Amino acid sequence: NKKYDYLVVGSGLFGATFTHEMMKAGKRCLVIDKRDHQGGNIHCKNIEGINVHWYGAHIFHTNDKMLWDYVNQFAEFNRYTNSPIANFKGELYNLPFNMNTFYKLWGTKTPEEARAEIARQIEHLEISEPKNLEEQAQKLVGTDIYEKLIKHYTEKQWGKKATELPAFIIKRLPVRFTYDNNYFNDKYQGIPIGGYNKIIEGLLQNCEVKLNVDFFDDIDHWKSMADKIVFTGKIDAYFNFQYGELEYRSLTYELEVHDTENYQGNAVMNFTDGETPYTRVYEHKHFEFGTQPKTVITKEYPVQETRNAEPYYPVNDEKNMAMLKKYQDLAEQEPNVIFGGRLAEYRYYDMHQVIASALAKSRNELKLSKT
Ligand code: FDA
Repeated sequence: NKKYDYLVVGSGLFGATFTHEMMKAGKRCLVIDKRDHQGGNIHCKNIEGINVHWYGAHIFHTNDKMLWDYVNQFAEFNRYTNSPIANFKGELYNLPFNMNTFYKLWGTKTPEEARAEIARQIEHLEISEPKNLEEQAQKLVGTDIYEKLIKHYTEKQWGKKATELPAFIIKRLPVRFTYDNNYFNDKYQGIPIGGYNKIIEGLLQNCEVKLNVDFFDDIDHWKSMADKIVFTGKIDAYFNFQYGELEYRSLTYELEVHDTENYQGNAVMNFTDGETPYTRVYEHKHFEFGTQPKTVITKEYPVQETRNAEPYYPVNDEKNMAMLKKYQDLAEQEPNVIFGGRLAEYRYYDMHQVIASALAKSRNELKLSKT
């Protein structure tokens, strides 16, 4: 009889939610994480009294009342609404593309005028089947928005010309004919008061968590500890990269503390020109309506060489998806291991989606353990 029912590799939102549900059902769990903190990518560091989103800005949003209630068990959420500002060479525009953006660009005041302006710009393009991202974007929103707010930003993010990028990357673009700067359409949205760490602390309350331990440093030891493993690290790493490395897009962050109360007046500013090397600047205090005397900002830079960088966004092209399929076939045959979360499934998950997935997998597991 092993000491634990489950060894959970990774204390991110997937691992923590799964563990919480198992503990509630009376299972014995041990969580390990190779980082020096729990919480995975939603971890916040407190700097100057401000919760700094250490792995990029995180805004919780969902349409699912059950998931909203689930996270609200652990923290109260504030009324933060994501309304990024686009900065194109010092000209400021509201995002997502909406009546405020159109008014600033063209002086159009009614939805009819705005629609007519976009139609006028698209008319001459004669794009039926878009061959690349440039054509796709122009077809959706016209040439002005494309040039000022999409082209350079996307090229910085991907390190490639928009004409060399596949059209599927932007199948849809949020275009709204109301004066509404709310980026998300979801019913529920906000930031946990006290930061995301509160959610993870609540989920992992009463559970043993060992930090600074990498599963791969002593696989046999960790496997001997529990009947089952829940693995939330990279699936290709679990199988020794035997079919090759799955690619990710990455980002780096540069943190600055400014001796001013308010640096840019908004939590998120996107720099959509080609010259500014960073894509976004976050001012963290605005996620929580902070009134601290100083402010902390993060500049976000895209990274093209990702070998040693944090893996952030899976690259869902044919090559990587074919490789993933091979790893998934191996995973299915791996006894007593549950693969879950963004790295083990090589899938972009928003927070609410990763919670939903962990809840479904834990329920399934509890059903199995009863039979
Ligand atoms: P996560 O990566 O958080 O956790 C995995 C854990 O496993 C890590 O702690 C890691 O250290 C550990 N681990 C890996 N290998 C290990 C090993 N070998 N041994 C021990 N430990 C190991 N979502 C949203 O809803 N709103 C938003 O605004 C954003 N914003 C956002 C910005 C950026 C830049 C990104 C990349 C992502 C977002 N997200 C988001 C998505 C959100 O970050 C995501 O849904 C969750 O963090 C995923 O949680 P996981 O537990 O799956 O992975």
